[in-house]
Amino acid sequence: MSLASNTSNQTRGLSPEMFLSEELAAVELDQIFYREWSCIGREDDIPNVGDFVTFKVGDQPIIVVRLEDKSIRAMSNVCRHRMMRLVQGNGNTRQFSCPYHGWTYSLDGNLVGAPHMGCNLNFSKEKFMLPTLKCETWHGWIYVSLSNDAAPIVERLKKLDTMVQPYEMEHYVTVFVEDLEWNTNWKLLCQNFMEGYHLPIAHRSTVGRNFPVGETKFDSDGASEGFTYQYFLKPNDMNFGVAHPMNTRLTDNLRRSSVMPTIFPSHMYVLAPDHLWYLSLQPNGVGKVRIRYGAALAPEVMEHTEDKSNLLSQFKELLDKTQEEDRLLVENIFENIRGPMAMAGPLSWLEREVHEFTQYLARKIA
Ligand code: FES
Ligand SMILES: [Fe+2]
Repeated sequence: MSLASNTSNQTRGLSPEMFLSEELAAVELDQIFYREWSCIGREDDIPNVGDFVTFKVGDQPIIVVRLEDKSIRAMSNVCRHRMMRLVQGNGNTRQFSCPYHGWTYSLDGNLVGAPHMGCNLNFSKEKFMLPTLKCETWHGWIYVSLSNDAAPIVERLKKLDTMVQPYEMEHYVTVFVEDLEWNTNWKLLCQNFMEGYHLPIAHRSTVGRNFPVGETKFDSDGASEGFTYQYFLKPNDMNFGVAHPMNTRLTDNLRRSSVMPTIFPSHMYVLAPDHLWYLSLQPNGVGKVRIRYGAALAPEVMEHTEDKSNLLSQFKELLDKTQEEDRLLVENIFENIRGPMAMAGPLSWLEREVHEFTQYLARKIA
């Protein structure tokens, strides 16, 4: 199974079997998702002590919670008794109580209650703390990793730092977060979100006009170990996707530029001067992908918009429609690649991120 072929200076996309192989899906979990960083959302999803969100890294359910000292902890969402999931969704709590037999854990994962276990010789609650994961924050994002060997996220994204820093996205205000599941392979959705080539065609009735692909800029140095990205410069007459008049952070062309990073393996976002739109993906077998889908608005947009509910509903409607356009594409491709005549074609220069994603996969699963 070859990841990508490069003939006559033509880089090709991933071959069909790369999206269909059960064997490869198991390797991806082991070599990628259980070793790399996964984004579970933004810090402002859990601003208060006891706020928590749940997530699954591969097949591992986790809880991410704000502790008393305001730090963030990530830990297993599986009870140490007989492995029931502790909590679902998100919310605020003082402790996590298992719905099966009532074992109870403090916010930081210590077992503090275990009904009727006192008769067990040598039973000691201290031995049954919830296992923790590495958890780091970066410009408002929360990343977790099951691997103690994962390089610090700040190192991994060092080069991206200078590109996103002027936007100060950590101050953007989250306006919605949803969990979706689509019937496709996670890599098809990754590839779809990271490239701009399809925007003027597939999204011509939604966001296509906001992304004039001729203005796409790539880093001449090529991809970094941990991410790829591109810039878009918007037309002068745009009123969406550009800096609000009260935005004093961005100057010159940055006032109408978006950055689209893909943090390998599966955290992708559009960072615009006025909004942020993200996906964080996890595979669920070969043919399903779990999607954490969210968006945020720049603080001055929130502050200086009189009719916020109208703004939010229009914003969400636009992103939802765009998402639906993408869902139809990537679910359709997943059906087509099973046919015996399916084969990968050459990539455009505008799909450079797809090529870089392929190279990343090759490094990880070689
Ligand atoms: S599985 Fe959680 S208390 Fe029994
Ligand atoms: Fe798209």
